[in-house]
Amino acid sequence: MNTNNPADKPATPPVNTPDTTADSAAPAAAHAAAHAPVSPETQAALASTAHAPNSPGATHIRSFVHRRGHITQGQLAALERLMDQWSIPYSARRLDPATAFGRQAPTVLEIGFGMGETTEKIALARPGDNFLGVEVFNAGVGSLLRRIEDSSIPNLRIIQHDAVEVVRDMIAPDSLAGVHVYFPDPWPKKRHHKRRLLQPAFVSLLASRIAPGGYIHCATDWEDYAVQMLEVLSGEPLLANTVEGYAPRPDYRPLTKFETRGLRLGHGVWDLIFKRVA
Ligand SMILES: C[S@@+](CC[C@H](N)C(=O)[O-])C[C@H]1O[C@@H](n2cnc3c(N)ncnc32)[C@H](O)[C@@H]1O
Repeated sequence: MNTNNPADKPATPPVNTPDTTADSAAPAAAHAAAHAPVSPETQAALASTAHAPNSPGATHIRSFVHRRGHITQGQLAALERLMDQWSIPYSARRLDPATAFGRQAPTVLEIGFGMGETTEKIALARPGDNFLGVEVFNAGVGSLLRRIEDSSIPNLRIIQHDAVEVVRDMIAPDSLAGVHVYFPDPWPKKRHHKRRLLQPAFVSLLASRIAPGGYIHCATDWEDYAVQMLEVLSGEPLLANTVEGYAPRPDYRPLTKFETRGLRLGHGVWDLIFKRVA
């Protein structure tokens, strides 16, 4: 249910929002770029996201709000030039990963990849797996498209859409080898907790899409969200914890810049790794 209660339209952006200008352009240039004329394809890409939060027929509370954040010239150019090559448009039909990736391989879904640093590193380190990154944020999608091209990453595809709808409509049951959800927006205010992505209904949907033996790996630096994740994942009958409580960070998940800074300041990070049971 999407409520129209004004109290449900927070002005406060979520904490840990990725740095949209991370790929070097100055803010003024980024601002100009954000207002530069763009091709019809880019317009379409931008429009689909711009309208997502309030799209008619939405059946759930969104875990993101649309923000007119900065986008650099490079990110905008990447959206315009590379979207067709590396992204898959959202559609209410099941995706065939073998066609999308051009090969049969285990497919790992990442939800909310931000600027894509971690996604790039993991995809490069695990060439035998297919990675499907889902993100709503234009600058983030532009940033990851650039990374795909700059680092020649063949095993990564992007869907720019609400992950809840992607999982519900495009991912077949029992099909994923893994799911990564790293540092989802914490929505720290109590009245916004309903916007947190990892709620029982969505976790149940996600679990149904993981193949038996596959995994879901979440990480957060918000202790009360970590507690909520542990409770929700433990309460899902299709999932079993791989350890007691929180897991050590596995080698394949690199430390993010933001996490390194947080750890230096003494903040905690909690990893959770659950397996799909048969
Ligand atoms: C706090 S950022 C973390 C980014 C990245 N995973 C990291 O560790 O740096 C959370 C990201 O999730 C994205 N996001 C939130 N809800 C989403 C949804 N329903 N579908 C797709 N992306 C979503 C946001 O746009 C944002 O970029």
